[in-house]
Amino acid sequence: MRTKIVAGNWKMNNTIEETTTLIKELQIALKDVSLENTRVLVAPTFVNLSRGVENAKDSNIEVVAQNMHQAKNGAFTGEISADMLKSVGVVSVILGHSERRTYFGETDALLAEKVSATLDNTMEAIFCFGELLEDRKSGNHFSVVESQLKNALFHLEAAAWKNIVLAYEPVWAIGTGETASPEQAQEMHAFIRNIIKEQYNGEVADAVSILYGGSVKPANAVEIFSKPDVDGGLIGGAALNAADFTAIIKAI
Ligand code: 13P
Repeated sequence: MRTKIVAGNWKMNNTIEETTTLIKELQIALKDVSLENTRVLVAPTFVNLSRGVENAKDSNIEVVAQNMHQAKNGAFTGEISADMLKSVGVVSVILGHSERRTYFGETDALLAEKVSATLDNTMEAIFCFGELLEDRKSGNHFSVVESQLKNALFHLEAAAWKNIVLAYEPVWAIGTGETASPEQAQEMHAFIRNIIKEQYNGEVADAVSILYGGSVKPANAVEIFSKPDVDGGLIGGAALNAADFTAIIKAI
């Protein structure tokens, strides 16, 4: 059975106090929630990772990073390495978010290096991708997604995929309040699973968790998560509120 995952991408939100409070609220809210076969992840900003890991200790919440540099160390002002993340207890990292691609110029080629760096460091990569509105309108969404996967991930050996989580986030649905319909999400997730099967094999394709992201809210989570190829969600805005995020987790 594939692992279900609900992950909160906090983006550039929450001070250290707010991080502590939100993790505490989540711990209390999730105390009696059965999370069988389900992982709950939160991704605070870099400076709050260490405190977040401490806060989440002995709970069913995992703290992950929002980004990572591909080099081991060196003259890369402002960047964070795998060793630094691991030294504060973070072993999983979101890569390729559309905001990283759009505002910080991250390309598939760069992301291929970042993905390799996470795996070389025995970390997990939560790889984000998804088409722009214009791609969907012109009917190019499948080919765009296929090339994002191919260019950033298909250099990996089959065995490496046990440390990959996919997050399909159509850019037009991120922070817009406009969600892909459950049918659109299912159609794309099934397509993704199929191209992984063609590139690798059925075992790899069946095992990889594919999350949906883009305006997931308590009101639409049940329907989206009910689709067979949707294994959870990557949540932005609604993950900043403990009650909303908990409701989404309960929807899985
Ligand atoms: P929203 O849930 O705010 O649309 O953001 C989704 C997202 O970007 C998660 O990474």
